[in-house]
Amino acid sequence: MSKFQVVEHPLIQHKLSILRRKETSSKEFRELVDEIGMLMAYEVSRDLPLEDVEIDTPVAHMTAQRLAGKKLAIVPILRAGIGMVDGIYKLIPAARVGHIGMYRDEETLKPVEYLVKMPTDIAERQVFLVDPMLATGGSAILGVDVLKKRGVKNIKFVCLVAAPEGVKAFQKAHPDVDMYAAALDDHLNEQGYIIPGLGDAGDRLFGTK
Ligand code: PRP
Ligand code: URA
Repeated sequence: MSKFQVVEHPLIQHKLSILRRKETSSKEFRELVDEIGMLMAYEVSRDLPLEDVEIDTPVAHMTAQRLAGKKLAIVPILRAGIGMVDGIYKLIPAARVGHIGMYRDEETLKPVEYLVKMPTDIAERQVFLVDPMLATGGSAILGVDVLKKRGVKNIKFVCLVAAPEGVKAFQKAHPDVDMYAAALDDHLNEQGYIIPGLGDAGDRLFGTK
């Protein structure tokens, strides 16, 4: 069974509460998703391997540590996942970015894929698959399918708000992929919205409703 971790850092929880409020503007929403993305990246990258490197400070020689050159990619699920990319990029500027475009059919709630664009060496990279919302889990599950089909072996899924239904479906479909969220909410309503949630993340990020 894959790990599901709620990252309970006070800064994340504080910013998430502002993000959820219906009064929060699109501008603030974008800034908050960016900041929370960065804070989540800190936790998700905790187990990246290090290696020794010999360096000289202005006063002495020392053996220091650096990231062991493991190649990373950030893959947002469009559209809303785009909001989380820059925050992670700021912390891991050597990462490459792939894109998976999909939307949920509003009737069936099933994801419809419309774009996949990956770095050519994606199979050799550790991938952070990002999307602020995990509702039924359909989009995230299909996102991992897309990556596995291209040979990716090391994947972590990072979201902000997860519904229990989505966590269960994801763990059943991909028991080998760990998941990180800023919050585990209560349930999904009949329209497939997370309750209490934050509404439609894509529309709030891009001001499309
Ligand atoms: C939202 C969200 C996820 C998906 C989650 O995207 O960003 O991708 O729904 O729902 P699921 O877990 O039930 O699949 P949406 O379809 O609204 O597209 P958008 O990001 O383009 O707005
Ligand atoms: N997608 C969203 O953006 N919000 C939800 O609550 C569910 C799916």
